Amino acid sequence: MRVLVTGAAGDVGSRVAASLSESGHEVVRASRRTGVDLVTGAGLDAAVEGADAVVHAASSDRSPRQVEVDGLRRLTGTIRRSGRPVHVVTVSIVGCDRIAFPYYRVKAEAERVLEASGVPGTVVRATQFHSLAAYFAQLLQVRRLAFTIGSMRIQPVDVEWVAQRLAGHAVGPAPEGFHRAQDLAGPTVYDLHDLTRLLAEHAGTPAPRVLRIPPVLPALRDVSQGRVLAGVDALTGGRSFEEWLAQQPTVLPRQRRVPG
Ligand SMILES: NC(=O)c1ccc[n+]([C@@H]2O[C@H](COP(=O)([O-])OP(=O)(O)OC[C@H]3O[C@@H](n4cnc5c(N)ncnc54)[C@H](OP(=O)(O)O)[C@@H]3O)[C@@H](O)[C@H]2O)c1
Repeated sequence: MRVLVTGAAGDVGSRVAASLSESGHEVVRASRRTGVDLVTGAGLDAAVEGADAVVHAASSDRSPRQVEVDGLRRLTGTIRRSGRPVHVVTVSIVGCDRIAFPYYRVKAEAERVLEASGVPGTVVRATQFHSLAAYFAQLLQVRRLAFTIGSMRIQPVDVEWVAQRLAGHAVGPAPEGFHRAQDLAGPTVYDLHDLTRLLAEHAGTPAPRVLRIPPVLPALRDVSQGRVLAGVDALTGGRSFEEWLAQQPTVLPRQRRVPG
């Protein structure tokens, strides 16, 4: 099959593209660095031409709505005009419709755009990737003191495994209309105490003292109430946080993206 991957230079997209190529599919890698801009529409017609399926994994910290919502609307509009029923698979976030983070609202809006688009669409929600969980845990740590928000827990997942599942949806049977696939989550739920202890062990430093702070903002209350956790119906798999961490450099970069 010929599969267009938006955001193919990104954390998820690059792995989706690699997984599809390894299984013998033809991959069209689309992002600004290959001349495809979802905000302006540049290069989109040519990228969509001849595609059997699309994995939409483009994302932007700076302009998430323009890329993930308006960009998806532009993409599905291009598909409709092509007159071919191209299956669009998007990656979303577990709990995005019940957590008051502005970015999560964007994700929920993107899901509605796909549902209303009229093209065959599959939304796959995943929990936070291990790299993001590590980043948050580092962010909440100041020297030997780690802060935890209420009873915050997280169920991080292996980006590699998520990418393989997304690729599988893209080359699998397309739904008639809109379909919400089974949510994806890692095998284990952690609290911040667990994560900071594991990160300290990995770095060979003493575990920090954990200080619990109340979840004062609505979004933090949502997280504290476990709304980022996957439900019992979710599919769990991939490397655990410990297994992922064991394959990372001793000093994790203090940035959102670390090697997957
Ligand atoms: N990180 C997590 O924990 C997590 C968890 C669940 C779901 N997700 C979802 O996974 C998706 C992908 O996230 P990610 O972390 O892989 O993103 P990422 O690493 O930041 O990659 C973003 C990609 O989008 C491309 N891009 C940015 N602006 C663009 C534009 N205007 N037009 C076309 N392409 C554009 C970038 O390439 P160029 O710079 O070349 O354009 C890049 O390839 C997002 O939808 C996110 O919500 C993430």
